Amino acid sequence: MRESEVSAEPECPVSSYNEWDPLEEVIVGIVDGARFPPWHVAVGAPLSPEQRAVFRERAGQPFPADQVAAARDELDQLVDILEGRGVKVRRPDVRDHGRAYGAPGWSSTGLYDAMPRDLLLVVGQDVIEAPMAWRSRAHAASAYRTLLKEYFQQGARWSSPPKPELPDELYVADWTDQPDGEPFRSVITEYEPTFDAADFIRCGRDIFAQRSHVTNALGIEWVRRHLGDDYRVHELRLADDHPMHIDASLMPLAEGKLLIHPERVPEVPDIFKDWEVRSAPAPVIPDGHPLYLTTKWINMNVLMIDEGTMVVEAQDEPMRRLAESWGMEAVPCPFRNFNSFGGSFHCATTDIRRRGSLRSYF
Ligand code: ARG
Repeated sequence: MRESEVSAEPECPVSSYNEWDPLEEVIVGIVDGARFPPWHVAVGAPLSPEQRAVFRERAGQPFPADQVAAARDELDQLVDILEGRGVKVRRPDVRDHGRAYGAPGWSSTGLYDAMPRDLLLVVGQDVIEAPMAWRSRAHAASAYRTLLKEYFQQGARWSSPPKPELPDELYVADWTDQPDGEPFRSVITEYEPTFDAADFIRCGRDIFAQRSHVTNALGIEWVRRHLGDDYRVHELRLADDHPMHIDASLMPLAEGKLLIHPERVPEVPDIFKDWEVRSAPAPVIPDGHPLYLTTKWINMNVLMIDEGTMVVEAQDEPMRRLAESWGMEAVPCPFRNFNSFGGSFHCATTDIRRRGSLRSYF
């Protein structure tokens, strides 16, 4: 190809292969209209007994308005930080999560559009809409429809697995926690493929996934077959007794640098043997701070602007020190109020474009 032809090639608006290449465009979620979903066995499964009680009691109600406002303000600060560093930031459309919808056999209202990472899996130029297992998230993609259509018009691939029907057969109606020490027992069956995008984490040609209360074996297999021979999708068994989303357990921060939850990864998978592995420092979120659907280990859910730059929670001194001791700049952003909604910087974003190409790091 002549050089003129190369430069004339339009750049795909969607292109991201890992969690650390230089970030150029990102979607940042919104908390507007966030609601507790109707009570359902699948909603309770990944939560602690205390969290379950809150979700039962407040089912269908909005999240507290002051907490929504405080989280909104923190998201706006994150946007300012990213834009200040030259990253193009996009936001989802505001939706009414109180509107009821359904399918044969069930109806629901919504949750929120705070965590684009849960829904959108970007692999190269392909943006995949996750077939989410929660009925309250069945239409999560709607909030991103404007953006997805735009990216598609500009040349991105846009994929959606078979739309889940989410009938009762997908769920274990009489599910209870597995007894201590016993293998993980999921609340979902293999009735049809379901997954959340956040149960996958990308390191170029190698993508790591876990089964969870929202991701089943068929869901992982769908991603594996869809991506084909250019990728290796590894299923990891982590020691998380309420698994939902891998990004507070295993976070690749840069080529050769892996951050892990100190207990959920009892054995670092062999493939990382040449990587430097460090445990996340103990969280500093005080007891009593509301965390509706996450553990305090959401502290390790950081966002890399590039492999030398980590966004860290403004009050999280230990994480700031970890970043700096690992040769990274730590960029503080207040996010504790956002954490209440179940995620941190990684969950609250989906990288649309990072400058880089498809590589193998192992
Ligand atoms: N399940 C994790 C924990 O409780 C939180 C993961 C949140 N991640 C996300 N993408 N929403 O520690």
